[in-house]
Amino acid sequence: MQLTDYEKQMLGGENGPAVARAMDLLVRYGEALGAERLVETRNVAGAFNASTPSIRSMAEDGFDRVYSELNLDSDDVVDIPHMAVPTCQLITGIDIENHALQGADPGLVDMQKDGERFFGQRGINMMCTCTPYQVGNVPVRGEHLAWMESSAVIYANSVLGARTNVEGKESTGAAGLTGRIPYWGLHLPENRLADRLIDVQVPVEDMAGWGVLGYFTGLQVEEAQPALNGISATPTLWELKHFGAAAASSGGVEIYHIPGVTPEAPTLEAAFGGNPMPDPIVFGERERVATWERLQSAEDRSVDFIMLGCPHNSIEQMSRVAELLEGRKVHADVALWVHTPRALAEVSKRSGYTDIIREAGGVVMSDTCPAISRRLPKGVRVIATDSAKQAHYLPAIAGVDGWFGSLEHCIDAAITGKWRGGP
Ligand code: F3S
Repeated sequence: MQLTDYEKQMLGGENGPAVARAMDLLVRYGEALGAERLVETRNVAGAFNASTPSIRSMAEDGFDRVYSELNLDSDDVVDIPHMAVPTCQLITGIDIENHALQGADPGLVDMQKDGERFFGQRGINMMCTCTPYQVGNVPVRGEHLAWMESSAVIYANSVLGARTNVEGKESTGAAGLTGRIPYWGLHLPENRLADRLIDVQVPVEDMAGWGVLGYFTGLQVEEAQPALNGISATPTLWELKHFGAAAASSGGVEIYHIPGVTPEAPTLEAAFGGNPMPDPIVFGERERVATWERLQSAEDRSVDFIMLGCPHNSIEQMSRVAELLEGRKVHADVALWVHTPRALAEVSKRSGYTDIIREAGGVVMSDTCPAISRRLPKGVRVIATDSAKQAHYLPAIAGVDGWFGSLEHCIDAAITGKWRGGP
């Protein structure tokens, strides 16, 4: 791999042992990927926090050890300096305010708080959300990133036109300390073109509809790069967020194009870079209903947990949840958790949405989600969610059955305790 003089200096240890290990990791990683060089990044989003029981003994030796082992893959413990470039924490395992509801013991909460202090002092911004682009980390078009979290990566590449592969704990740990990441995959403009065509023949009208289309797209194209033709109305941030999260769950989609909507596809032809287009994959009424049915894993219509906010809710979504819950009461046998980034939870509180949700019997959660934390309300058997991603993962992760549908159907289930949704 070709390195600049400054990169050689970092590798040689002139910037300290942690940076040297980070460079060594990036060079080995890049060579394994076939990258010829590294690229500068000023925007890293990774997983640095410490909130799982499995790392408790590591954390007792200090967070230098946690970072060394988990974020640098180093057996030696090295002192971790300040990050070289802006870096942020994605989602964590515990909501510090609501940890009791999650069944997290106070020792773990203290460990998470200690970890946040340690990492924060080293320049890692504790955003604690899978949607950093909703709370201030909005990369510009063409910017090279080193981001983890498949739903964030697909949003950054497709909607914002920034450039990142799906990175891991180690590569983001090394990128934060060096401001470098291997130049391969979606960092190269020629690798960002569409190579599959989805012909959307039915209107896609709401968030659930976009979730279904995303789930269908991922199933059809797997890890390829689709362009969607036939989208007539401009989708919202939250619709695209749900589309991408679903496509990255049922498949491994990291970038998509919608002509006239996403920045690298002014036209359908441009999405393919002028290359010949493949035969279209049709998404019609039959496909829409079949995909919706595939997302249902429950038969029992009595639900006991409603999970909203995967990916974390925008403030507009919080407003809509409050509107639907105002003056109503969540069923006594149902838990309702609504997830939003902590920064937006503050806006939700100031706007009165949180009071409405709480008065109805719901809980506003931040920092985490059930799929990541593997913490659900006690005794849950049947969930309902407005997220195709959560409907995909939670039954397998938590051994529950799941209903997927619109926000309106989820709120109805929260109030009645019964699932009455349909495609
Ligand atoms: Fe975010 Fe958890 Fe969903 S990390 S995208 S809320 S599975």
